[in-house]
Formats: sequence, C-alpha cells, structure tokens
Amino acid sequence: MTDSLNYAATVLRRCDELAAFSEEEGRLTRRFATPELRQAGERVREWMEAAGMAVRRDAIGNLIGRLGDADRQTLLIGSHLDTVRDAGRYDGTLGVVIGIACAELMRDRGAVLPYAIEVVGFADEEGTRYGTSYLGSRAFVGCFDDGWLERRDADGVTMRAALGPFGGSPDGIAQCRRDPADLIGYYEVHIEQGPTLESEGLPLGVVTAIAGQTGATVTFSGVAGHAGTVAMSLRRDALTAAAEWILATETLARETDGLVATVGRLALDPGVGNVIPGRATVTLDLRHPEDPVRIAVGAELRRRAEAIAAARGLAVQWCSHETAAVSLAPQLIEPLAEAVAAAGQPVLRLPSGAGHDAAIVSTIAPAAMLFVRCAGGVSHNPAESVTVEDVAAAIEATTRFLELLA
Ligand code: HGY
Ligand code: MN
Ligand code: MN
Repeated sequence: MTDSLNYAATVLRRCDELAAFSEEEGRLTRRFATPELRQAGERVREWMEAAGMAVRRDAIGNLIGRLGDADRQTLLIGSHLDTVRDAGRYDGTLGVVIGIACAELMRDRGAVLPYAIEVVGFADEEGTRYGTSYLGSRAFVGCFDDGWLERRDADGVTMRAALGPFGGSPDGIAQCRRDPADLIGYYEVHIEQGPTLESEGLPLGVVTAIAGQTGATVTFSGVAGHAGTVAMSLRRDALTAAAEWILATETLARETDGLVATVGRLALDPGVGNVIPGRATVTLDLRHPEDPVRIAVGAELRRRAEAIAAARGLAVQWCSHETAAVSLAPQLIEPLAEAVAAAGQPVLRLPSGAGHDAAIVSTIAPAAMLFVRCAGGVSHNPAESVTVEDVAAAIEATTRFLELLA
C-alpha cells in the first residue's frame, strides 16, 4: 500500500497540473478541440512516454499510449481529458492518469503481462462544445456521424474547422475505429459523482450498469414584441411557454421513480429586457436505468411541449439524440470485484447515473468500471475532491485486476 500511496500522490499532482490547462482564467474549462485540450494532451503524452508507452493521436484527437508488442491482444484503460464548463479536476482526468500510474507501478514491480495495455485519453466525452457527447469514443468504436463535422460551436466554428489546428483530421475519422478482434476489454476508473460510496463509508465501487440518456434541444418560437404596448392577452411569449414546460418536466420527473430530468441551458432571442421573448431554446437531459421508462417520458414531454405551444399560439421544434442504458460485462465485473477484495476493500456493486465512455466502448468490447469515492458526491463542480488513500486503493485494486486478467 505504501507503494500505491506514492503513485497516488503522483496521480493527484498530475490532476492538479492538468487543471491549469484551461480556456478560462480562474476556472477549469477544457472543451473538445481547443488549444488547451491539445496542450493538456501533450503533457499526458510526456507521462505516457516516460512510462515506456508508444504514443499516438488518432484523427479525432484521442491520445493513445501503448505498452506491449503490436501483435498482442489489448486491454484498453481509458477515460476523457475534456471537461464541462467550470469543472472539477478529476472527472475523466483521474481515469487517464490512474491508467498511466498503474502501468508504471506494474513496470516498477517487474510484473510481466501477457497482453498489451493501451491507455486512452478520449478527446470529447462531455459534448460541451458541440452538444454531441462522446465524440472521442464514438469515433473509436466506428459510429461517428460525419454530419457532425458541420456542427458549429457558440462562436460559429465548425467541428471540421476546429479539428485541423487540434491536430485531428476530419477526413480520417473512419480510421479511428478499433478492431474489436484485438481487444480483451475496456476498463475505466472514474469518480463516483454521487453520494453512495461516501454514505457507505467505502473508497471503491464496482459498476454494474450505466443509465441511458436522452439529450434534447427544444425551441419554442413565438412573436417578439414591445414590452410596453402588447396586451397580456395578445402575447405569444416564448419564454413563458418554455417556463410552463420546464415546470411540467420537473413535476413529471418527480412523479417517475428513478428518473432525473435537467434543463441546463436556456437561450432567449432577442434576450432584451424590454422585448417580449420571440424564441426560447432550452436543453433537456433525461436519464433512467431502464430505457423504456426514459423513452416513454421523453415522448410524453414532447407531447406536452406541443400542447403548451399550441395553447399559446406558438410553434415548437424538438431535436433529440439517445444513448441506451448499458450493462457492464460480467466476465470483467467478477475479476474486478475479486481484485477489490484482494486489495482489502469491501465490494459494493452499484449502477452509474452518469454517462461514461465505457457505455460507448462496451458496444465493441466487454467493459468494466471502478468508482472512487468523491467528497459529498459532488461533481461537474470545481469542488470535486478525492483523497490520496482512496486513489491508492483504486491503484491497488487495478493492479490486482490486471494480474487477474493475465
Ligand atoms: O453527463 C454525463 O453523465 C457525463 O459526465 N458526460
Ligand atoms: Mn462529466
Ligand atoms: Mn466523466
């Protein structure tokens, strides 16, 4: 464990160091295909190379460090290097940096594995810049939609234009696809982002499943008008329609067991104090462990948006995408649970309400995840925090897991 504590201290220092690669002064924001994400990746490359890995970037900008001969079967260890806006420093980053630390620890202990390890830092999981989550892992599994290249960020920059300076290649994305035949599986360490481990007094959790997710952009279109002259009875106010729908969403989510719904963004046009809003665009994030429940609630919310808009004389446009719920692979969950126990920790199995690259990579390889306790269950917030002891426990469990797979 002393060993692991030393490596864990390095992991935390590296997370601190990467938190300085930010687009915004004084807070951590590192979106897909930005210079800051590239610079963070170059620092990670140095650590990978120091660990003896051969490092490359693929066409979407995923950073991949390989340890082991080319003809060997491969265990992927990954997570993401991009962040949400005003992020914590561990969501995603921790899993990549722990992957490197475990490779270093195994090497330093003289352990010889009969398979290769590839540590992957995915270029986009959060979808913060283009509203399309998992761009990195979707390219990696070969389900990237080329139409996404024409999407624009808030400044009007297309993904295609952003990729070049990032070192990516819009025309080479099909080559990011990994051949499933080469893969033993995919393993991801991640902070829990919820309160269960802390309330159980446990440092680690073995993840069983990842909740499905619907992401929607809902646009209410009414008529902009003068705030002083248009009578209340004559208004077609896009914001009040959106507000009515947002509250209906909250009510339905509260009435549906296990469902969570979030409106995280609201944009008004023209967005001026003395003009009745002509257009209101809101995002919806809907999650549930069971796909049929999530899909039924999504359909109901769409009907309600249409009914609210119709009653107020407005139009509504609904644009959504889905990620199905995923069960992680029993053939990896069992050795992982054994490894956690061998590391001296109680084994708690739990599902994930948050999305992870593992959900996407599980479409081409068996996938497993290990959660690490985070203070207060807080995440997507600069207050994210982990302890060096818990990270050491994760390193210890991971190295035993790697040995068990040998
Ligand atoms: O939103 C999520 O669940 C993930 O952090 N992208
Ligand atoms: Mn996240
Ligand atoms: Mn994450």
